[in-house]
Amino acid sequence: MEKLLRVKDLSKGHILNGISFDIEPGELLAVMGPSGSGKSTLLYQVAGMDQPTGGEVWLRDTEITGLSEDEKAKLRLRRMGIVFQQMNMMANLNILDNILLPALQANRRGGKNRRMELQLRARMLMEKLSISGLEQRRITEVSGGQLQRACICRSMMNQPELLLADEPTGALNKSAASEVMGEFARLNREGTTILIVTHDSRVASQCDRILYLLDGRICGELKLGKAADRTDSYRENQVNRWLMGMGW
Ligand SMILES: Nc1ncnc2c1ncn2[C@@H]1O[C@H](COP(=O)(O)OP(=O)(O)O)[C@@H](O)[C@H]1O
Ligand SMILES: [Mg+2]
Repeated sequence: MEKLLRVKDLSKGHILNGISFDIEPGELLAVMGPSGSGKSTLLYQVAGMDQPTGGEVWLRDTEITGLSEDEKAKLRLRRMGIVFQQMNMMANLNILDNILLPALQANRRGGKNRRMELQLRARMLMEKLSISGLEQRRITEVSGGQLQRACICRSMMNQPELLLADEPTGALNKSAASEVMGEFARLNREGTTILIVTHDSRVASQCDRILYLLDGRICGELKLGKAADRTDSYRENQVNRWLMGMGW
């Protein structure tokens, strides 16, 4: 089967030291590792937001590392969904307009009908992620969990081939974190391939596979398989035992 993403011998100064891995279409992959181990840097290279000092990143048959800045920005907009903490929502726009923004950017030449379709899609995604009714709210007028779900809606607007998320549950309490992770798991069951950086072993235990990053190198891999196979507590125990072995 064709890989969805191929990362080959990727390096970034002293931060990333020869990282290689693939992601299969439909996979839900987690990256864990201590703070400062290079997880965010890895996501920036995969998203083409930063230029690595060595190696290659391929999204299907496109070499991201071989594209111009312009081409990378287009590819990100059209083919990737991004949920990064640093990429804040716009304070001057309401929730619905924030969600619509990347879709309007990708459809600049679309007419009124196209804009109507996009509005419908945004509302459909909001419904799916249980934040209907918050369309007109300002981003300061919703909870952390609701805002994170709005970020996920925004990242899904252009039907990405790959969704990248950097600690999407990091700022959330336990129940909001488990709800947000539930949404990622559902999007994945519906076919979206996802790469998620997380500190939370409960979040990671819902993924198909986990990579462990240390000092810019992959030094461990745990294959869990699809979540339906085992109970949540069995998977969490498995992840916690593995993490202990990694020196977590
Ligand atoms: N813009 C930057 N310039 C120089 N060093 C950086 C920069 N961003 C991150 N680093 C360093 O790179 C290492 C990895 O950072 P990061 O990828 O953010 O780790 P993680 O996401 O795993 O916590 C850290 O040692 C950090 O200090
Ligand atoms: Mg980070």
